[in-house]
Amino acid sequence: MTAPIPRLSARENLVGLKEMRRDQIDFIVRSVRDHGDIFQMRLGGLPAVMVNHPDYVQRVLVDNHQNYNKDNFLYRATRTVLREGLLANKGGEEWRLHRRIMQPTFSHSNVAKFTEGISELTGVLLRQWETNARDGTVVEVTSDVAGLALRIVLRVLFGLDADDRGRKFERDFLEVNAIIGNFFRFPFPPLSWKSPSRNRLRVLLAEMDAFIEYLIAARLKQDSDQTDLFTLLLHARDAETGAALTHAQLANEILSMIIGGYETTSNSIAWIFYQLAERPEMQQRVHDEVDGVLDGRVPAFADLANLPYTRMVIDETLRLFTPGWQTMRRAAAADVIGDYRIPKGTNIYLNLFTFHRHPDFWPDPLRFDPERFSAAEIAKRPRNVYLPFLSGPRHCIGKHFALAELHVITTMLAQTFHVTRPAGLPPVGFEPLLTLHPKGGIQLRLRRR
Ligand code: HEM
Repeated sequence: MTAPIPRLSARENLVGLKEMRRDQIDFIVRSVRDHGDIFQMRLGGLPAVMVNHPDYVQRVLVDNHQNYNKDNFLYRATRTVLREGLLANKGGEEWRLHRRIMQPTFSHSNVAKFTEGISELTGVLLRQWETNARDGTVVEVTSDVAGLALRIVLRVLFGLDADDRGRKFERDFLEVNAIIGNFFRFPFPPLSWKSPSRNRLRVLLAEMDAFIEYLIAARLKQDSDQTDLFTLLLHARDAETGAALTHAQLANEILSMIIGGYETTSNSIAWIFYQLAERPEMQQRVHDEVDGVLDGRVPAFADLANLPYTRMVIDETLRLFTPGWQTMRRAAAADVIGDYRIPKGTNIYLNLFTFHRHPDFWPDPLRFDPERFSAAEIAKRPRNVYLPFLSGPRHCIGKHFALAELHVITTMLAQTFHVTRPAGLPPVGFEPLLTLHPKGGIQLRLRRR
């Protein structure tokens, strides 16, 4: 026996349509509060079924994942930017083949090697910040850490440094992110139309494409025997046909990996720094841990396992400030989720912002508390309630790379500076673009330790 899926009233949807443009998170949080773990709603006017319970999410992402693809309106908008690269690929054979090609790049031993590049580039930024610390000037960290995260991806995955061009690429993508984020909230006019913002989008995309072409040309010129992601993509052959990736496929995968690899990470770092600055006792505990374990030494991959409290702070930040905060799948065929019948073609909406605040699984869910991630507390919780990288075959390919990166950067910051927020600033709010940004950036004062 299946039950009808609860739905928002016409009035709630109408109010939501307006409110989405003002505060998308507020609308979603209220809808979950009023309608529970599964319900039909309109997002920017388009129908979707929101699932907010781990069992339902497990059905979509893991148990019946073959039935759920990215051929839906959230990812259609994203594909305007990322085309058919891994992240936005609809799914199916091409996705499977490309995932198989790229997976070895993210092996445990490769991630261990990446940490050298991560710590070296982090050291460069921390040295730049020494001047701010000496002068007592406030640093707006989000833009600096976005630069760092982009340099890390370019260096460790593609063996390239592209500083000025890289900065421009970041600025372009930030604008694109806002245009697509707004489009999702109110999908009119279509992205293909001619209007000032759509024309601007086309210019930005052309600039981003030019950056990728520049990277490919630079890398092809290098006489290099590196075995990084670029080499893997370049030499990949289809097992059956022997065909190589076309130039467009290569470019799409590089763009997708760069965006996937720096945007989420840089937002996470900014939110982690914010937490440290807001909570002096917690920051002190991180300082004690990194000093005790490393005694001033640059962290190596093997050290990370000995810095569990720092990792707990990172995990709790990724719970409440999850950068990849919303996603969508489309049911290719009819299915049953829990007691509910899902018709073919349904758009399933998953919002990690509300999912990670589910009161049945997170006592006092809004409280920031790293202790939730002690080994004992983790053991008490079902595994599928915490999914900052999602789960199932399409979970984040860069998960372990990202966690190592966040761990190294947080550790090195803690070794070098004590951070505070300038007095009188209000709490930082959310800017829900395609990824979850801190609204207005994060301003910090740094003091050399
Ligand atoms: C804290 C950092 C990160 C977070 C929170 C994060 C989160 C996610 C999430 C939630 C997804 C699933 C999206 C969906 O299916 O709708 C995803 C997919 C993906 N991520 Fe990450 N990510 C992070 C870092 C990275 C890094 C460092 C890389 C690469 C270097 C990366 C590359 C990708 C790619 C390529 C996919 C698509 C995988 C596929 O569909 O097969 N991510 N990520």
